[in-house]
Amino acid sequence: MGNLKSENELLKGSFLRCPVCGAPLSLQDTMYGCENGHPFNIAKEGYINLLLSHQRKSKNPGDDPEMVMARRRFFDSGAYDRLTDIVLKSPVFQAVEKVSVLDSGCGEGHILGALSEKLNGCFCGVDISKKAVQVAAKRHKKATWIVANGMREIPISDDSMDVILSILAPRNNEEFCRILKSDGVLILGVPGPNHLIELRNQLQFTSGDFKEKADEAAAKCAPQFVETNREHVSYEAVLRKEQIADLIRMTPLFWRSSDDAKEDVMELDQLTVTVSFTLLTLKPAL
Ligand SMILES: C[S@@+](CC[C@H](N)C(=O)[O-])C[C@H]1O[C@@H](n2cnc3c(N)ncnc32)[C@H](O)[C@@H]1O
Ligand SMILES: [Zn+2]
Repeated sequence: MGNLKSENELLKGSFLRCPVCGAPLSLQDTMYGCENGHPFNIAKEGYINLLLSHQRKSKNPGDDPEMVMARRRFFDSGAYDRLTDIVLKSPVFQAVEKVSVLDSGCGEGHILGALSEKLNGCFCGVDISKKAVQVAAKRHKKATWIVANGMREIPISDDSMDVILSILAPRNNEEFCRILKSDGVLILGVPGPNHLIELRNQLQFTSGDFKEKADEAAAKCAPQFVETNREHVSYEAVLRKEQIADLIRMTPLFWRSSDDAKEDVMELDQLTVTVSFTLLTLKPAL
């Protein structure tokens, strides 16, 4: 049993590389290490922290624990099920026997976790927020979860992934290009037109926030990537009081709105919001 577990863990970690020297990382007894003797502990939840101190600007970068838990509850409430669905149903994931997927900026792991339950292969989630990676690792055991800065050198080997997901998260073209296999695909999830417009109106934001982000996102992926497909989902979600509070808490709207505006919205018993996402599929340019 012990050996089997080790082999399995080794397989799970074989695409990792050392954040210090870039050599491959492998499981060595109860920790990961490289041939140059750089050790990395496996946390009790099962994730690995590969974020070096000079790769972060603050002690606890990324989404804070309250944002992470609000996002977890919001996803669990089902309000973003159709976002998860549009990723799971992407043509990229149909009729594949085995697939390797990196989710960069994976958050609390809802989408990658669902993929890892549905498909065979290897699944790796990277986020700079330790709390996000902790809760992802606690729930989804079929994936490997890493704390790392997706905007610096990502500790994943060259040409190792069939798919990279970047859903509502910061993007790193150079690193995505290095990590993706030459026939791999990059999937971006960006807010669509009028995403959460009713909430933004309630919080007194201007119309500049509602425009379509997909063209801009595709343009920013050039010259490394070219778009091959675009899908869109848009629906109205009727949110209950606690969902409204979680939605505000999990987005940057929380920091950008006045306390008065937030209090007024949080007093509502119900709010219908437009949920609108665009999913872009891109391939490496030749
Ligand atoms: C809006 S959330 C999206 C999370 C997830 N993709 C989802 O759709 O639920 C953005 C995530 O990006 C993470 N993030 C921000 N900057 C990052 C960076 N430099 N490297 C890795 N993750 C980062 C945040 O911690 C947060 O979990
Ligand atoms: Zn090393």
